[in-house]
Amino acid sequence: MGPVRNVDDLMTLGHGYQRSMILFAALKLGVFRRLADGGCDAATLARRVGTDAEKLSILLDALAALGLVEKRGRRYRNAKPAHDFLLPGPRSKESILLHHLDGWGEWGRLPSTIRAGRKPRGGAQGTWQENFIRGMEENSLERAGAVAREIPLRPGERVLDLGGGPGTYAVAWAAVSPDSVITVFDTPETLRVTRKILREKGASVRVRLLEGDFLVDPIGGPFDFVWISQILHAYSEGDCIKLLRRVRAALAPGGRVAVQEFLLAEGKTSPPGPVFFSVHMVAVTGGGRAYTAREIAAMLKAAGFRKISADRPDSRGVGIVCAVR
Ligand SMILES: C[S@@+](CC[C@H](N)C(=O)[O-])C[C@H]1O[C@@H](n2cnc3c(N)ncnc32)[C@H](O)[C@@H]1O
Repeated sequence: MGPVRNVDDLMTLGHGYQRSMILFAALKLGVFRRLADGGCDAATLARRVGTDAEKLSILLDALAALGLVEKRGRRYRNAKPAHDFLLPGPRSKESILLHHLDGWGEWGRLPSTIRAGRKPRGGAQGTWQENFIRGMEENSLERAGAVAREIPLRPGERVLDLGGGPGTYAVAWAAVSPDSVITVFDTPETLRVTRKILREKGASVRVRLLEGDFLVDPIGGPFDFVWISQILHAYSEGDCIKLLRRVRAALAPGGRVAVQEFLLAEGKTSPPGPVFFSVHMVAVTGGGRAYTAREIAAMLKAAGFRKISADRPDSRGVGIVCAVR
């Protein structure tokens, strides 16, 4: 929705969480997966997913109102958006949505976080890491191929995908630059999921994995190109500059860096995606927030980089800032 203009908008805004939670509850219960085999009534579906039939029928009616299932008589079946995006497959958004549900508790504590200036202790549990990293893959799959073509590698270049998560970009570069040497650096917890994803894609041999904390542990090198995608927003400006200095030290002379982020426009009240994402970072990270391209350029400069340039962000506000060692 757009900005609030009247009392109806205000109430829609206030109730917005109910719609999100209806979707999340259906995902958690496996409603869409169980409807994938064909339509059925609420009692049959309740037996399949192990729930109370009457309560499930109320949830199903709400899903019908949201356009996620279709109701004919007493039977329900997946509507097209659910069929296209909420079932396993290359266009699935299941993991990234469940990742947002995983942040629900932290959003609930947002007033305390803002009051204290830091988020309360407690964090990843259960399937958190798997949803997070598979969600990153879902977010990047479409864009990665285009980025790999827009930022071509020279033959034999040594590339570091720093905080590479699922390795989506690493695999995309490997596909267009077969003789490049590509390393994904990430935490041990993330790389456990990365290995699974690379195996599933048959890409394990093309990407090297290096594990550790990039603010503390050696990140390897020398590299000719370092790709830093959706990393800086999780850290304070001080930690970002520290990280960029470490990256610069790991680059060969003349080496390049590219930082991809959800970029805020100057003034920081648009575009909507990065603005709300910035509050998400306040809720779920120790010191992160979204940055403007100018702020990222200033951090790169403070870390010693030169020839800094930024492209125009896409419709979601995702943009790239490039620099040379
Ligand atoms: C938002 S994801 C981005 C993943 C990937 N770069 C992309 O754009 O799809 C952030 C990644 O950074 C990793 N990360 C965050 N802090 C890290 C640290 N201190 N050391 C190593 N990896 C870290 C996370 O594990 C995660 O894989």
